[in-house]
Amino acid sequence: RKSVVRITTGSQALDELLGGGIETLCITEAFGEFRSGKTQLAHTLCVSTQLPLHMHGGNGKVAYIDTEGTFRPERIVPIAERFGMDANAVLDNIIYARAYTYEHQYNLLLGLAAKMAEEPFRLLIVDSVIALFRVDFSGRGELAERQQKLAQMLSRLTKIAEEFNVAVYITNQVIADPGGGMFITDPKKPAGGHVLAHAATIRLMLRKGKGEQRVCKIFDAPNLPEGEAVFQITTGGLAD
Ligand code: GTP
Ligand code: MG
Repeated sequence: RKSVVRITTGSQALDELLGGGIETLCITEAFGEFRSGKTQLAHTLCVSTQLPLHMHGGNGKVAYIDTEGTFRPERIVPIAERFGMDANAVLDNIIYARAYTYEHQYNLLLGLAAKMAEEPFRLLIVDSVIALFRVDFSGRGELAERQQKLAQMLSRLTKIAEEFNVAVYITNQVIADPGGGMFITDPKKPAGGHVLAHAATIRLMLRKGKGEQRVCKIFDAPNLPEGEAVFQITTGGLAD
């Protein structure tokens, strides 16, 4: 039986909220408005995953699937320095791929699984998991097919998490909730419907606070208490 590894987010408050960090063997989803920190958390995890276990890392490589073209290798440099690591070595251990269609995204996962069988990976990022589905299945009658393909992709991600003891970190978008009624307090909800809700073990809702401050709330996680953590986005990645 594989044992869970918890990878630091760079923020102690956020780690505590998560029970120690982002976990291997399951899918962690972050959703929230633009600039809420989803991609910055991805960049920080790219580095912290490579830290040794005693420094709350995962001692492993990182696979990064980017559907929005927002990965910035130059952002990795100050984050690596903040953690006292060699930036070039850290960059060498991030396997990066840009996906252009949902099919491309799926095929990249197949290729990565083969790579993970040979090398020690601890993290797989998909930023964003749903954007290409929303583009490729934008027609009104295509929702059922989209959800079916999305389920297929998510089940592949779960399989990778469990087979290779990898943490899977995915980002999601928020959509306006069209469901009328006069008592709606939160008009935004994560995209992807029940399919995504069932696949992600831990769902994090991010929002902007003052300045560089961000707030993370546990949206849905069976084993975690409800709560919030405040963190900052800094040049060295997420911090308190
Ligand atoms: P979308 O993908 O647009 O939905 O947003 P996101 O949730 O992925 O936001 P992202 O993680 O890209 O966060 C963007 C925020 O990070 C912005 O407010 C930037 O100002 C901040 N940020 C990015 N780089 C740096 C940096 O080097 N230093 C600091 N202090 N902040 C940064
Ligand atoms: Mg982003």
